[in-house]
Amino acid sequence: MEAAATLLDAEAVGDLVLLDPLTEESLLRTLQERFRRSDIYTYIGDVVISVNPYRPLPIYTPEKVQEYHNCNFFAVKPHIYAIADDAYRSLRDRDRDQCILITGESGAGKTEASKLVMSYVAAVCSKGEEVDKVKEQLLQSNPVLEAFGNAKTIRNDNSSRFGKYMDVEFDFKGEPLGGVISNYLLEKSRIVRHTKGERNFHIFYQLLAGGSAQLLQQLKLRQGSQHYGYLNRESSSLPGMDDAANFRDMQDAMAVIGFSPAEVTALLEVTAVVLKLGNVELSSCYQASGMEACSIAEPRELHEICELIKLDPGTLEQALCSRTVKARDETVLTALSVSQGYYCRDALAKNIYSRLFDWLVNRINTSIQVKPGKQRKVMGVLDIYGFEIFQDNGFEQFIINYCNEKLQQIFILMTLKEEQEEYIREGIQWTPVEFFDNGIICELIENSKCGILAMLDEECLRPGVVNEDTFVTKLNQLFATHKHYESKETQNAKHVTDLSLPQRCFRIHHYAGKVTYNVTGFIEKNNDLLFRDLSQAMWAARHTLLRSLFPEGNPQKVSLKLPPTAGSQFKTSVATLMKNLYSKNPNYIRCIKPNDTKTAMLFTPELVLAQIRYLGLMENVRVRRAGYAFRQLYSPFLQRYKMLGTKTWPRWAGGDREGTEVLLSELKFPPEELAYGYTKIFIRSPRTLFDLEKRRQERIGELATLIQKMFRGWRCRTQYQLMRKSQIIISAWFRGHAQKNKYKQMKRSALLLQAYARGWKVRRTYRRYFRSGASTRLANFIYRRLVQKFLVGLRKNLPPMSVQDRTWPPAPYKFLAGANQELKNIFYHWKCKKYRDQLTPQRKALLQAKLCASELFKDKKTLYSKSLQQPFQGEYLGLTQNPKYQKLHAVAKDKLVMAETVMKVNRANGKTVPRLLLLTAEHLVLADPKAAQPKTVLSLSDIRGVSVTRFSDGLLALHLKETAAAGTKGDLLLVSSHLIELVTRLHQTLMAATSQALALHITDQFSTRFQKGDVAVTVVESAKGSKDVPVCKKRGSHKMEVLVH
Ligand SMILES: Nc1ncnc2c1ncn2[C@@H]1O[C@H](COP(=O)(O)OP(=O)(O)O)[C@@H](O)[C@H]1O
Ligand SMILES: [Mg+2]
Repeated sequence: MEAAATLLDAEAVGDLVLLDPLTEESLLRTLQERFRRSDIYTYIGDVVISVNPYRPLPIYTPEKVQEYHNCNFFAVKPHIYAIADDAYRSLRDRDRDQCILITGESGAGKTEASKLVMSYVAAVCSKGEEVDKVKEQLLQSNPVLEAFGNAKTIRNDNSSRFGKYMDVEFDFKGEPLGGVISNYLLEKSRIVRHTKGERNFHIFYQLLAGGSAQLLQQLKLRQGSQHYGYLNRESSSLPGMDDAANFRDMQDAMAVIGFSPAEVTALLEVTAVVLKLGNVELSSCYQASGMEACSIAEPRELHEICELIKLDPGTLEQALCSRTVKARDETVLTALSVSQGYYCRDALAKNIYSRLFDWLVNRINTSIQVKPGKQRKVMGVLDIYGFEIFQDNGFEQFIINYCNEKLQQIFILMTLKEEQEEYIREGIQWTPVEFFDNGIICELIENSKCGILAMLDEECLRPGVVNEDTFVTKLNQLFATHKHYESKETQNAKHVTDLSLPQRCFRIHHYAGKVTYNVTGFIEKNNDLLFRDLSQAMWAARHTLLRSLFPEGNPQKVSLKLPPTAGSQFKTSVATLMKNLYSKNPNYIRCIKPNDTKTAMLFTPELVLAQIRYLGLMENVRVRRAGYAFRQLYSPFLQRYKMLGTKTWPRWAGGDREGTEVLLSELKFPPEELAYGYTKIFIRSPRTLFDLEKRRQERIGELATLIQKMFRGWRCRTQYQLMRKSQIIISAWFRGHAQKNKYKQMKRSALLLQAYARGWKVRRTYRRYFRSGASTRLANFIYRRLVQKFLVGLRKNLPPMSVQDRTWPPAPYKFLAGANQELKNIFYHWKCKKYRDQLTPQRKALLQAKLCASELFKDKKTLYSKSLQQPFQGEYLGLTQNPKYQKLHAVAKDKLVMAETVMKVNRANGKTVPRLLLLTAEHLVLADPKAAQPKTVLSLSDIRGVSVTRFSDGLLALHLKETAAAGTKGDLLLVSSHLIELVTRLHQTLMAATSQALALHITDQFSTRFQKGDVAVTVVESAKGSKDVPVCKKRGSHKMEVLVH
């Protein structure tokens, strides 16, 4: 907003259009005030005025570039970057070719301005390897051209001594592709002569200061400008300018542009030749005929030159000192006088240098030119020498000022005249603004029939003696009454005495001031002739570059046609330039020089005022204020902004003008801001245009969003529809599939039902034809078959006969499960029976005894498990073998069941004595072992019962019936080592004899009936005793304790 503030600051408005009141003083004061504040740039609408500060200002930093990049022209402080940005954007976005016209006096800052514009555009356009290379080449053309084309003048230490117009070409994206440089009229007279305080072209000083000793030796040069005539033998160093460093920069720049080392060497060689030509001294001599002739005074320099350009020194000497004249069919060699010789020498030097400069520009162009065929947009930057008024103005000043006059004309035409004419053409109400049209001055100079240049050409071509006097006379006649032409003669005619206007001079009232031209040298310079001898000599040199500069020196190509004069050449190139500029959108930078002494920040009001006047700034402001900042044909305008109106977007059906009116009325701009012409819309202030642009930018953003939205919507919708279609297909298929399945199921069921029903019906119908019970029989038959198969299979597959093996194949059908189980049992029983049948009677009896033992004792007495392993032997005594027991054997007769040795417990004290026990089928006999005599014989029927303990002892109480014969002594307490067998056999024998089971008590406490009464026997489990036998202890008369374990 600082910028807006400065624009409106009454003391120093940024845009002179806003100046109030508008007078020359206020305008001057504003510029001065702004200059004091270091605001060197000021606008008149979109024209930039730049006042040279002559000191570096901190306003060209990369940050500043960023600030102005894509800026709004009217929202930022006036700056050259703003106009560069505006032009670049207009080129890129609106596809309009641009030209930037930089005008102003010499030293006003034009070249600097052009460089600032170029560097700004280079900085903001896109980056990339290829683009950067192009940019670098374009920028680096400056140091090279400045070295060869710039020189120090009194007004400017780095004054361009040639006009330069550079077209930078861009592609549609705004990326630079390359460019073309055109050069105009190099001030070549500077080569041979320059005023004191000025210098020759920079390159000479650069080469001498910066060239290495080796390079200088190669070029046959000596260090120091004092050795060279063309450099005026003055000390040449310039404060603030480092020639040596500049030389290095120039060499680097050449490398960047693409000069090969050989080309650079050739270029420097030719440069050296020019320098050395100035040292070629001539001396006079007289020919035999008495005519004055000249010769080379000191041949060394000439020889060195010839060595450099590989030319025979004689040829060059001859070309310099004589001239071939063709008279009819004869060619005559005439000697030249010393002054003629020097003239020749200088002409040669000037020609070589100016042609070298042209070659240089062409060479740069070949590097930076764009390949044909690409579509491009162009930005032209014109930096041409400024208007010059010297003490003594010659042909060059005339030409330069003519060019400036043309540029002013363009400015007038485009900004003032054109604009006003357009208002009238378009029918806009308009009060014309008075301005000075310099068309008349241009006509004075360039009119092809009676312009000054045409007259000059006529003089040059005229046969006979030509000199400038006849030329001036002719002008005086022609322009006697011309308002802008003056000479001694016309003044005399008007009786005006003006000492400032001498003879042989004419004065033109240029737009920028009156300039008096001295006609001396006009014809010669216009002719710009080089004697053929010299061009032929140059062509004869074997130095490729030099030779190529003089194609007309080729004897085969001798043309009698005179080359166009310098004046007409310049006129043509200016005309081409003007045409070129007219085709583009102009952007003006008008440079003002604030003082004549190159002093930093010094503002000389008179000097500036003069420039304000001749630049026509006042008129410029007036027209601007009265006029409209912007105009455009209705159609493109509507096209560009139609999206801002609801009625015009997206399509307007009516005419373009109506559309524009509808659009703008909808936008509600104040009516004085707009004017409707016949074909164009006019917008008064840039702010309105800016506002339009801003709204457009915003609207475009919205529209882009809208398009995106619609597109996304469309995409989603189509996607959805596709998905929906697919979903319908899938569900249709799925439903179809499900229905088909259901149908199949129903069909199967229906068929089944049908089959049953039909079967039932058929059976009912045909029952009488079938025997009843057929199906049962069939089923039975099938069953039987199955059973048969099963049984046969079983037979083949019977399990092993081992009684331990209980395996049995499973039933193949469920209905056979019961039978199978039954068969399994039967088989097992049968297997057991088979087993039993093959047993011997003894073994059978033994097994029966074991079985019986198991029934009696299993899980009741601990001793049982121990007895399992022991076979029941029955006979342990060996009655038959031992003769001692013969008696006993007899007692047992053949009915012996068991015989063993037992211990009998004494009923009185519990002590034990051994006894032989015999069990027969009828009796139980106890015998004394020594005597082998039966002591006690018990009938089995006397045995009431038997008591044993739970433990693993062998104690047994034999309860006797009271009626028994042996029973008088009471029950017997025995300890047997085969207790289980004994009791089992007893039980078996008793069963066999009496069919009564033995009353067996397995108990811990029992009572025995002894002779002396009942005794309660208590079995006590003790810790493992030392003996296996139980220990009986009598406790009192009726109690006995048996310790067992
Ligand atoms: N914008 C500027 N800022 C600082 N110094 C400048 C500026 N423009 C010009 N100058 C100074 O003025 C001198 C002359 O400028 P130049 O552009 O060569 O003038 P012209 O081309 O108009 O003859 C430059 O060498 C430089 O020192
Ligand atoms: Mg310049």
